[in-house]
Amino acid sequence: MSDKLTEQIKRRRTFAIISHPDAGKTTLTEKLLLYSGMIRTAGMVGGRKANKGAASDWMGMEQERGISITASAMQFEYKDCVINVLDTPGHQDFSEDTYRTLTAADSVIMVIDCSKGVEAQTRKLFDACRLRNIPVITFINKLDLSGKDPLDLMQEVEETLGIQASAINWPLGYGKGFKGVYNRPDNKAHFFTRLAAAGSLKPELDIVDRADLAGHEKATDLDIETVFEELELLEEAGNEFTRDSYLNCEVTPVFFGSAMTNFGVELLFDFFVNFAPCPGDRKAKNLQDEEVTVEAEDDMFSGYVFKIQANMDPRHRDCVAFIRVNSGTFVRDMTIKNNRTGKQVRLARPSNMVVTSRETIDDAFPGDIIGVSNPGHFAIGDSLSPKGTLRFQKLPAFQPELFATVRCVDTSRRKSLDKGIEQLVSEGAIQLLTPVDSYTNEYHLAAVGRLQFEVLQYRLQDEYKVETRLENLPFTASCWLRGDKETFKKPFNAKFMLDQFDKLMVLFSNQWEKDFAVRDNPDHELLDYAWD
Ligand code: G4P
Repeated sequence: MSDKLTEQIKRRRTFAIISHPDAGKTTLTEKLLLYSGMIRTAGMVGGRKANKGAASDWMGMEQERGISITASAMQFEYKDCVINVLDTPGHQDFSEDTYRTLTAADSVIMVIDCSKGVEAQTRKLFDACRLRNIPVITFINKLDLSGKDPLDLMQEVEETLGIQASAINWPLGYGKGFKGVYNRPDNKAHFFTRLAAAGSLKPELDIVDRADLAGHEKATDLDIETVFEELELLEEAGNEFTRDSYLNCEVTPVFFGSAMTNFGVELLFDFFVNFAPCPGDRKAKNLQDEEVTVEAEDDMFSGYVFKIQANMDPRHRDCVAFIRVNSGTFVRDMTIKNNRTGKQVRLARPSNMVVTSRETIDDAFPGDIIGVSNPGHFAIGDSLSPKGTLRFQKLPAFQPELFATVRCVDTSRRKSLDKGIEQLVSEGAIQLLTPVDSYTNEYHLAAVGRLQFEVLQYRLQDEYKVETRLENLPFTASCWLRGDKETFKKPFNAKFMLDQFDKLMVLFSNQWEKDFAVRDNPDHELLDYAWD
């Protein structure tokens, strides 16, 4: 291990921001860019009203539709740290891309709208983090609007997500009367003054000691007694924050603020760079199929492909594989071996995303995300190392809830359809299923969110010039089945399918039918994600 490598690892924070749509993920990302000096004023990265695009949106369709479909990554510096922020799609109908992107994150910031509390998609994403032991910091946003009581929100986080919440700061006022936050670690009140160009510049800040708070001119409109009561309650009955409890996912540190007006965001970012983990060890298997621990400081480069995106640049019709570096130093033009194919590949012209542009890079370190051109060398989940000796944990396939058959409107375009489906399945854009007990030449597809189907049809049309017709199948729940198929008591309407890795799945008409099957088959394992 070299000192330079260790130093680079310690500086890195690779994370994702997760939220239910509209909670403020894009706004917060933009503010992180503002505070890091990457952009001069918030809102300068694209007209948000028109395309709602922060710097991280780049696909044509995203901009047309005003949603973020691809999960991209950006790199920039914030106070001596190198930040890699993974952009998770924020649309209601999210997709498997989001889940896979989380596997590349070392930690997560979860944004909650204070008037909505913990919403459905936040819960799903939080569960995915928990499955992989990813530590989560909570940011309760939009305090400048009226919302739920802060104590109730803390309780909601604990009860809905099953994690202890520990308030690091506490709101001073609410809605129109939101003045700032009380920062518990240094026992100081941070009062913000909203500037005319609300949100596009850092607000003016006044810091007041707790002892001077009562009677202070900044606190005149505050119900200061309630503030003190709440702070005392937190001190006596609140959950203690320790770095270990956060890293072990037992506690989520909670921040209150307003991303739009920048109130409280700098405290959040500073805490994040101080406490969020740098890239750590990863589990893998060696050629003998034995489990090994790959340390980030290990001198040997290793990484894995967590995302494949075709046609990112319409001028070049290229296909890019996104690799997360897990250990060692990656250097430009390096030759690596793909564990799955056994083939050697030279990684020429590696790039990363720096806010709005792709830049060629000379080296990369653990936690970094690099994009390399992929003329068919890589598939989702491929593990890369100089001798191809490592295989990282497989990326989980999540239980799909939507199923459809797809065919081309003009049958003479069948070959293009075949090509398109093959490419999009290898990118992980959609799951491909094969019925077990019947033959058909139609494609059976499965998705976690409806958007995946829409993107599929759009891309088949846009990139492969195939107009398709999609027919929904009457299933809304599924599982992977471990155990003997012959002894499985299959509900009448359920159907056996093989996934693209030939693992057996069962599709159910509804959740009730699935729950019934679980009870009726105690000797079988019905799993919500595919096992390695
Ligand atoms: P998302 O990425 O999680 O989907 O949410 P996004 O940041 O796009 O925010 C959704 C809406 O909430 C936006 O309004 C945004 O301005 C607003 N918002 C975000 N943070 C705050 C906050 O702290 N306070 C208030 N009051 N609003 C906030 P929009 O009308 O959809 O877009 P825009 O016209 O403001 O760009």
